[in-house]
Amino acid sequence: MGRVVNPRLRAFAEDDEPVRYDEELEVYVVSSHEAARTVLNDPGFVTDRLDSLLPRLGGLDEPPSSLNAMLQMFMDGPAHDRFRLAVSRDLAPKRVDEMRPRIGAIVDAALDGVADRPAFDVVADVAYPVTIGVIAELLGIGVAGARALLGFASRISAVLELRPTERQLLDAGDAVRGCALFLLPLLPGRRANPGRDLISSLVSLEPGGEPLPVDELLTMIVQILVAGHEPPAHLIANGALDLLGHPAELRRMRSKPGLAASAVEEVLRLGSPIGYLSRTATRDTVLAGTPVRKGSRLVLDLTAANRDPARYDDPDRFDILRPDPGHLSFGGGGHCCIGRALGRVEAEETLRRLFGRFPDLALDGEDLTRRASAAFHALDRLPVRRT
Ligand code: HEM
Repeated sequence: MGRVVNPRLRAFAEDDEPVRYDEELEVYVVSSHEAARTVLNDPGFVTDRLDSLLPRLGGLDEPPSSLNAMLQMFMDGPAHDRFRLAVSRDLAPKRVDEMRPRIGAIVDAALDGVADRPAFDVVADVAYPVTIGVIAELLGIGVAGARALLGFASRISAVLELRPTERQLLDAGDAVRGCALFLLPLLPGRRANPGRDLISSLVSLEPGGEPLPVDELLTMIVQILVAGHEPPAHLIANGALDLLGHPAELRRMRSKPGLAASAVEEVLRLGSPIGYLSRTATRDTVLAGTPVRKGSRLVLDLTAANRDPARYDDPDRFDILRPDPGHLSFGGGGHCCIGRALGRVEAEETLRRLFGRFPDLALDGEDLTRRASAAFHALDRLPVRRT
């Protein structure tokens, strides 16, 4: 069986080679599960592809916070280490479990909003209201504040595409400054009266006996917004589509709501919200038999790796009880998604409650819209109706 690849990367990865060089894009495309996992866990491959963007951002590196600083935090190095340490406690599974009832209430409120409607859009009416509500809760900024910040975050996300344009980069720089100007006035109040939110945690941290510099603190929050707002919404919408398209699996989940967690894992495997990850080789090496030169860029095609026939029996089958899905949809190694516990709970609570409350849900025609993006495996519209 041939490999299934990210449709947006298909042009340069449509054969069976686990690792191949694409002349036009000047990247190695990694499509086998084993090779992708090796790259993620080998410190010889680093996430510094954004280095190539930094010189093009001259003039943007100014206070109170900058796109450059944000990009540094995505890369390997001390800023990245400090970032992970600072946010890890608030995103740990134990803390997320404490948030679960509140997340359930946020989901219920979103479902109340559509309860009287014969038809609605899962993306706009459920997925985004849930993820916006969760970000509002996490940061303690209210829903209006979260909406404003996430508007900026969407513009910043454009830099994660394979080939961002100059205009997207400039716009992202403006959006980072917009976020910083929104957040800056909140900090003194959180210092004086800390709550249980992430901003309060960050302002009270004193690594090495000193509070975090304001610039770094703002950058950390922006990083959470950029990395944490889109993927859970896509996961929810992809999950709703997968379950609606597989009525037997949906019945299975509805008969035993505890299965929502394993359903989410299978949705992650088959519909990874993140389409690909990038790494750079720091030494000459050989990957799955292919020589890779130092300094080369690699693109890990998660869609292909998660359906690798060498790793999964019947890889295209949607099976919510698949033993050991072992997907790569949260990445791995030193950059493994730090918000994965939260993202999982958001999707689990939403899918369980959505199908529990509306057992008669069906796709509303063919009018769903897939996003034209290689970076995100996402739906922009998922119309459903009550039957
Ligand atoms: C459920 C959906 C989610 C998916 C599929 C997902 C996926 C990923 C992936 C694949 C990476 C690795 C990026 C790389 O290696 O280059 C990542 C990193 C990250 N994610 Fe998530 N994520 C999700 C939810 C979240 C949430 C809810 C948050 C925070 C609130 C979050 C915060 C982050 C951060 C901060 C990073 C960067 C980690 C680092 O570079 O060390 N994610 N995510």
